[in-house]
Amino acid sequence: MCGIVGYIGSRQAYPIILNGLKRLEYRGYDSAGIAIYDGAGIQLSKTKGKVSDLEKRVKKEIKTTGTLGIGHTRWATHGVPNDVNSHPHYSNSGELVIIHNGIIENYSAIKKALIKRGYSFYSETDTEVLVNLIEDIKKKENVKLGKAVQIALNQVVGAYAIAVFDKMKPDEIVVAKLGSPLAIGIGEDEFFVASDATPFIEFTNNAIYLEDEEMAIIRLGREVRVRKIKNDSLVVPYVQELQLNLEQIEKGGYDHFMLKEIYEQPSVIKDTYRGRLLASEGIIKLGGLEDHIQKFINANRVIIVACGTSWHAGLVAEYIFEDWARIPVEVEYASEFRYRNPIITEKDVVIAISQSGETADTLAAIKLAKQRGAFVYGVCNVVGSSISRETHSGTYTHAGPEIGVASTKAFTTQITVLTMIALKLAKIKGTISQSNYMKHLRELEMIPHHVEEALKSDTKIRAIAEVFQDAANFLYLGRGYNFPVALEGALKLKEISYIHAEGYPAAEMKHGPIALIDEQMPVVVIAVNSNHYEKVVSNIEEIKARNGKIIAVVTEGDSTVKELADYIMEVPKTPETLSPLVTTIPLQLLSYHIAVMLGRNVDQPRNLAKSVTVE
Ligand code: G6P
Repeated sequence: MCGIVGYIGSRQAYPIILNGLKRLEYRGYDSAGIAIYDGAGIQLSKTKGKVSDLEKRVKKEIKTTGTLGIGHTRWATHGVPNDVNSHPHYSNSGELVIIHNGIIENYSAIKKALIKRGYSFYSETDTEVLVNLIEDIKKKENVKLGKAVQIALNQVVGAYAIAVFDKMKPDEIVVAKLGSPLAIGIGEDEFFVASDATPFIEFTNNAIYLEDEEMAIIRLGREVRVRKIKNDSLVVPYVQELQLNLEQIEKGGYDHFMLKEIYEQPSVIKDTYRGRLLASEGIIKLGGLEDHIQKFINANRVIIVACGTSWHAGLVAEYIFEDWARIPVEVEYASEFRYRNPIITEKDVVIAISQSGETADTLAAIKLAKQRGAFVYGVCNVVGSSISRETHSGTYTHAGPEIGVASTKAFTTQITVLTMIALKLAKIKGTISQSNYMKHLRELEMIPHHVEEALKSDTKIRAIAEVFQDAANFLYLGRGYNFPVALEGALKLKEISYIHAEGYPAAEMKHGPIALIDEQMPVVVIAVNSNHYEKVVSNIEEIKARNGKIIAVVTEGDSTVKELADYIMEVPKTPETLSPLVTTIPLQLLSYHIAVMLGRNVDQPRNLAKSVTVE
């Protein structure tokens, strides 16, 4: 988390950095800051709050002319969000200035040693320790900035993407990466640095993504020099051509990115299966899978590792993989998996699911699984992300940039990919009948249309949101394939409205949550056509008997639940196996509208960040 951005060239740095920070704000928005070299010295301004607060402060506080600068938007790890802890941070001499995304774990020992050497610290951050360590080495060893950064980074433990410059040598920015992403945009006699490519997409399509343990010296009038941090050896960087365009990262007339992304689902689900699902020919073609299919077929089990919404997509996959492909599946929170000495063998296949491809816990879980010999397959959205590079192979979801912090289109496209994998494996293993296989291919192809239909209930859902916006708690219930959807629905509401919500398997309700039900408790029940329909109806009766208010997601044309429920949200008919792709839509809209009505910051909910690059 945290977003970093930098510029060196002949344009004015300030507007580029400010705009870049706005685009990176999804990564953290506790505080923000900027440092510009004005030709003589450094102009620095920083503040608790959002980039818009920084913008106001900059106007009052500093001159913004200059063609070299760095900026930061923060998600606090060490030290509360306040002005002093915001980045950039100066070194004691005031010559160096740094921005940092990540955590320096051994900062406390380094800080003590630097205090003994006469250094003072003004903030509670690990970053201020790092910039002073660099300064100390630079002076002590009498080396250039790049060399000092390299030596310093060999002494620190942790994760980082940093950018630092020296006001005594204002023709270069030094950057380095371990664990947090860092892209360098290559223009004509100008360079950009950022946590992802969005801040510079209108200026250049060429970018270098640093690998872990690499640093780069970006000097005007010279090619970018990339080096290994460990041994200082030169690396030939791979300059990638970006596929991103400006339209994809703008709101396109919607009030919020989240709403835009909810509405994009019909088209991005199509993008996910385009060229991969040839329904009429009965073919599923997944580039990353073809060469490794035997690994899956011979696997003892599949272990899915993920966090947050991606973990919920993993739970849906557990149902489909076991149902169709008859492969045992375990779904693990990456953060638990990596620390509990799990049993992993060479006969296991690990699937890592991640929208951002940068989640630290998922990345660590992948590394652990690889060390123990498992084959690791990634399902990621962000092309070129750390997870997509760390896995042996994988499939991209092609959902396009997801900017709203609450994940929506990433979830449905992840399920689309996982469904295709499961169907393909089932076909090869012969665990699905030809007719069922063909039926599901055709039905999957119809999903974008069904999602479009589901979106038509938006106005009705807004009216339901109006009724329940003041509820203090919500319960979400689902069974089978729709149990993970209940979890996801509850998560969406919590994330953006700050209303307490719990997702539960409908039948488990009577083992605890039923005690919570009274006339104040809205219960969202996913009650679409399924093998458990009657059972869910009984669960609804149990809630009604205790005066709970029922909001039911039902299949179009349903009559039984319609009579029982207080409110209904209709979705088109799909096979139960594919139903999460449509039942999730009304739940996304419900949480969106409630959050808007409560005046919440939908795209940037408090305390959260889109990309969690710390454990
Ligand atoms: C954060 C985000 C969630 C996301 C989770 C996993 O918590 O706020 O929306 O589901 O990280 O992220 P990933 O990028 O790995 O899917």
